[in-house]
Amino acid sequence: MGLFFAPSKLIVKSVLVLQFAAFSVLAQPLSQSAVAMPDSFSADAAKSILEQGGNAVDAAITAQFVLAVTLPEAGNIGGGGFMLIQKDGKGDFIDYRETAPTAAHRDMYLDEQGNVIANKSIYGIHASGVPGSVAGMWLAHKKHGTLKWEELVQPAVTLAEQGFVVPPKLAKGVSNYIAHLKEQKINVNFEKYFADVKANKVFKQPELAATLKRIRDNGQDGFYKGETANIIAKFMHQHGGIINQDDLKGYTAKSRTPIKASWNGYEVLTSPPPSSGGIAILQWLKMYELQKPDAGLAHNSTQYVHLLSEIGKRVFADRAEYLGDPDFFDVPVNALTNINYLKERSNGISLTAISTTENIKPGLKESEQTTHFSIVDKMGNAVANTTTINLGFGSGVVVEGAGFILNDEMDDFSAKPGVMNVFGAIGGKANEIQPHKRMLSSMTPTILLKDNTVKMVTGSPGGTTIISSVYESILNAVEFDMTAEQVVNSPRFHHQLWPKNIIRTHIGLTDSVKAELTKMGYTIDENHFGDLHVIINKEGQLDAASEASGRGKSIVF
Ligand code: GLY
Repeated sequence: MGLFFAPSKLIVKSVLVLQFAAFSVLAQPLSQSAVAMPDSFSADAAKSILEQGGNAVDAAITAQFVLAVTLPEAGNIGGGGFMLIQKDGKGDFIDYRETAPTAAHRDMYLDEQGNVIANKSIYGIHASGVPGSVAGMWLAHKKHGTLKWEELVQPAVTLAEQGFVVPPKLAKGVSNYIAHLKEQKINVNFEKYFADVKANKVFKQPELAATLKRIRDNGQDGFYKGETANIIAKFMHQHGGIINQDDLKGYTAKSRTPIKASWNGYEVLTSPPPSSGGIAILQWLKMYELQKPDAGLAHNSTQYVHLLSEIGKRVFADRAEYLGDPDFFDVPVNALTNINYLKERSNGISLTAISTTENIKPGLKESEQTTHFSIVDKMGNAVANTTTINLGFGSGVVVEGAGFILNDEMDDFSAKPGVMNVFGAIGGKANEIQPHKRMLSSMTPTILLKDNTVKMVTGSPGGTTIISSVYESILNAVEFDMTAEQVVNSPRFHHQLWPKNIIRTHIGLTDSVKAELTKMGYTIDENHFGDLHVIINKEGQLDAASEASGRGKSIVF
């Protein structure tokens, strides 16, 4: 059982209390800071900001802009994300998710027969929502920053202008993507901008540097108004896209109240809608507590994987029906995380047999490529930030003259009820396309607290598998007492109702567990998830890790 958590066997079917993060008890200062980052450039830049006296939010803003330069597959100014903050004893959630443009409409990805047009929401000029990242960083800075905005953006300007030495994994990712675009005959301008990305060579991005300078000098107006907005709108117009200047001027990042719930003697501070992840991880963790045998289950054993897969089916049936942008759709957060509902919802689960997929309906009686980083500062403040342009390299479209990649986040909407998106997720009314609406997300930045002290900061990329990576990272730490390194590098798995009886696994379960699951009737799909970046506070000592499969770097200092 986890060292920093109460032994879970002593917790008798603990009660889920959903509340809002309103109280304020100052966090305990620490003797260390830590960053767990998806690449070395962002890790070094965030560390430097903390050493200059900036707080975790300042470091996060710098990291976000640096990643827009050095991690083009996911870091961005052309996408969006969620920043979960625990600062001075209080929680905050900066929602900078993209929105559908004014001219978007429910059936925009359907042909005349009402069928979904392949790839239209994934590649090219029609795939993008209105970017939210710059507005998100601006809002986070206004509310929580301490260093000057210009100082926070400058490291990214320098890396774009002077260039950076390309890590071999990035060069390989770029060349694979260019080959993929050619093979699929996808006509976007990605190669024109990224053909010079070569391993261990310096790569400069002058157009992006000029855009970042306008952001550095004019704040969010340097993106949503003036020259950058003109360039984006003109580029869109020339290529038949629908994002216009009013869409850009009208974009607003929002500060929302994080979900906060008691679990196993801890407070789980997590992401509210339009993230589906916060509700999903609470459903998953609570149903696991309710259904696991008293003797517990061995980590990643057949029964453990099966039980969590059965729970996943129910979580994803609810996700498809009830979850969407809370500004457009009334999401029943309390009902979905209510302990009595979850008892009833998990009652029929057998520990030995697979339930019939078609019989798992939404339960209420009456709904890849992303990147994540975690930061803890010496004041005991924490940031969990997940940001995305959706698939690796987004829509494949670079805004000419502004030098940044646009997202393909429109695919996270439900293009047609019951039809799977690129992650195999289905949805209906709650997540249908409407102008200005935010598409449902699986991004789940999460912080565990005890006595209002940060105990764990976690998050991951990976589309719908994000949710599994996050709740499994929590179970790995709480239930199985793993170090940060073990948490991020342990095999993970994911089941999301559809496709039927498929368990996806990342890093890989053991051969015997895979054979037993196959015998039960599951099909095992070995597939990449995303790289976890975790910080654990073990009795005042920080432990940080970035998953070895990525090119991440974590530092405790
Ligand atoms: N684009 C992945 C997500 O937000 O879920």
